[in-house]
Amino acid sequence: MTTLLDIDKVTKTYRRRGNSDVTALSDVSLAIDDQEIVALIGPSGCGKSTLLRMIAGLDNDYVGALRWSEAPRPGKDIGFVFQEATLLPWRDVSRNVSLGLERQRMDKAAVSARVSELLDMVGLGDFAQSYPSQLSGGMKQRVGILRALAYDPRVLLMDEPFGALDAITRDKLQDDLLAIWERTHKTIVLVTHSVEEAAYLADRVVVMSPRPGRIKSIHTVPFSRERSSETRQLPEFAQFTGMLREELG
Ligand SMILES: Nc1ncnc2c1ncn2[C@@H]1O[C@H](COP(=O)(O)OP(=O)(O)OP(=O)(O)O)[C@@H](O)[C@H]1O
Ligand SMILES: [Mg+2]
Repeated sequence: MTTLLDIDKVTKTYRRRGNSDVTALSDVSLAIDDQEIVALIGPSGCGKSTLLRMIAGLDNDYVGALRWSEAPRPGKDIGFVFQEATLLPWRDVSRNVSLGLERQRMDKAAVSARVSELLDMVGLGDFAQSYPSQLSGGMKQRVGILRALAYDPRVLLMDEPFGALDAITRDKLQDDLLAIWERTHKTIVLVTHSVEEAAYLADRVVVMSPRPGRIKSIHTVPFSRERSSETRQLPEFAQFTGMLREELG
């Protein structure tokens, strides 16, 4: 595996006018491989979202370095999936998904073909003309993921993408995400509060400590890349998630 992104001793301090400064990240180093799925877990406020925003290039005010094997092209190489789907209510499903493509001035026929392909991938083909208000939470979240995938980014950053969903929908979307990975082999950095989700999806799980966020430990998931409902039943799965829970304290 080749390193896609080398995060080297990154420290991030938020300066707050009239208030004391907040050190959100302290001396964080992590190498992310090409095509890898990395999960970040850690207590609230330990800097997970801050780190994602830096990787996305949305925050450049930090000490340390982010070194890419190939510099990401702004708006093209990085897809961001937010905790809430943040869809545009006045656009239907297909025009929410096509948002990033329109910015790239792709021609109409190509955009429409790409959008249909994506919608079919997660079983939303029949909802292309529906509006966000007509969708369930899980469907909205799928549209949010497709919107990030539409322009075929190299890296997908996901900030608690399934946090607001019920357990069954969540399991289904985890499997959708793995199916997407099978087809695209995107590098994925996923923030989650669920040790089960981290174990089920990731190749490696990074445990962070409370603010100021540091990397406490990094764990390679001890079972194969192929995951299914049976994975969750494996004794190794229970052992691994138990260990992660202990690490979290
Ligand atoms: N714009 C900001 N200005 C000042 N402080 C901030 C800002 N954004 C985040 N912080 C602080 O930085 C720390 C890390 O925030 P961050 O949102 O990265 O945490 P997190 O790990 O994503 O937490 P959660 O799990 O609750 O989403 C927090 O203490 C927060 O108060
Ligand atoms: Mg966060």
